[in-house]
Amino acid sequence: MREGGLNMTDTMTLDSQDLIKAHDLQGMLDKALSLPEQIEETPQYLQGFIPPGGEVRNVVILGMGGSRIGGDLIKAQYSQKLEVPFEVYPSYLIPGYVGRESLVIAVSYSGNTEETLTTFEQARAAGARMICISSGGALKEKAAQHGIPFIQIPGGLPPRAALGYIYTATSMALEKSGILENQDLARSETLALLKSLKSKWGPASPSTENPAKHCAEALHDRTVAIFASGAFTAAIAERWRCQLNENAKMVAYSNEFPEMNHNEVVGWTQPGKAYDQFHAVLLRDRDDLARVSQRIDFTKEVLEKRTAVSEFIAQGESSMARLFFLVYLGDIISVYCALLNGVNPTSIDIIDAMKEFLRNNRDESGLVK
Ligand code: F6R
Repeated sequence: MREGGLNMTDTMTLDSQDLIKAHDLQGMLDKALSLPEQIEETPQYLQGFIPPGGEVRNVVILGMGGSRIGGDLIKAQYSQKLEVPFEVYPSYLIPGYVGRESLVIAVSYSGNTEETLTTFEQARAAGARMICISSGGALKEKAAQHGIPFIQIPGGLPPRAALGYIYTATSMALEKSGILENQDLARSETLALLKSLKSKWGPASPSTENPAKHCAEALHDRTVAIFASGAFTAAIAERWRCQLNENAKMVAYSNEFPEMNHNEVVGWTQPGKAYDQFHAVLLRDRDDLARVSQRIDFTKEVLEKRTAVSEFIAQGESSMARLFFLVYLGDIISVYCALLNGVNPTSIDIIDAMKEFLRNNRDESGLVK
């Protein structure tokens, strides 16, 4: 029975250990909850790391899926402060401007993702200054072969569940390269915040008091439309989308303000459409532009006429803490959605099948070497 957007029967089951045991066969919930420990652990993997020297005119991050999102989050967090262009390239091709004064960071958790290995070779051929981050695989071997600074993070996780390692290793590589200021203080604040949220949002906190369980109840059987309040929250919205896709096997999409006010908002105004299948999520931040906040308030009323809307505002002082407040919430919600949907949050059979298909059907003629 659905009451006020909540299915009370399912809410009960999220409090049951049996539900977790039945579906979370490889422990994704614990892995998602381990985000603060991953952030805390990562500095040790940079001991002895020496970045490539020289002047940097642009920064390019290479990577796909769970390995690329760390770069997206960093770009969103620092875009107003960065003194050089900073782009993330989840692609088979690098941009034409990559050259000797580019700093290129190739990130692949497995170290074996073909797009990333392909763009790694292109960037190397272009003479870029390079850093590689992986848990092993071909990327590690290539870094050793070419004397490229390499950061090894722990293996054995689904890449999307290694964000604490991936983000922190990438951020610290940029700090040591002089692209970002030292972020030790922000990291300490982020750790303290996430550790305090772990018990509030974790499985032992009952659904009556747990906003993550409460939100999963509302979202798990819907198509989720995630609206970011601007560039900062847009990368977080993208993380929410990917986690709902992969962990909960749900369709979700994200869009951002103010752009959605110039197109998508019209799509929410037509009576009689099948809006019931949706649930809208607004991700907001205290540093949102006042003018954009006005737009969001107006748009929220438009959305509420058609569908249920949940709103979350980032908490914390530093941009890193605020960013991870929302990321952590979305990660945990996505695992709860998986449990409510009766699916194993770890399995991503279709991605595995696609990778297998490509391994067995090698046509590399289109790859730029
Ligand atoms: C799986 C996941 C994927 C991978 C992507 C690239 O958990 O999140 O999106 O991250 O297929 O693989 P890696 O990260 O090994 O380069």
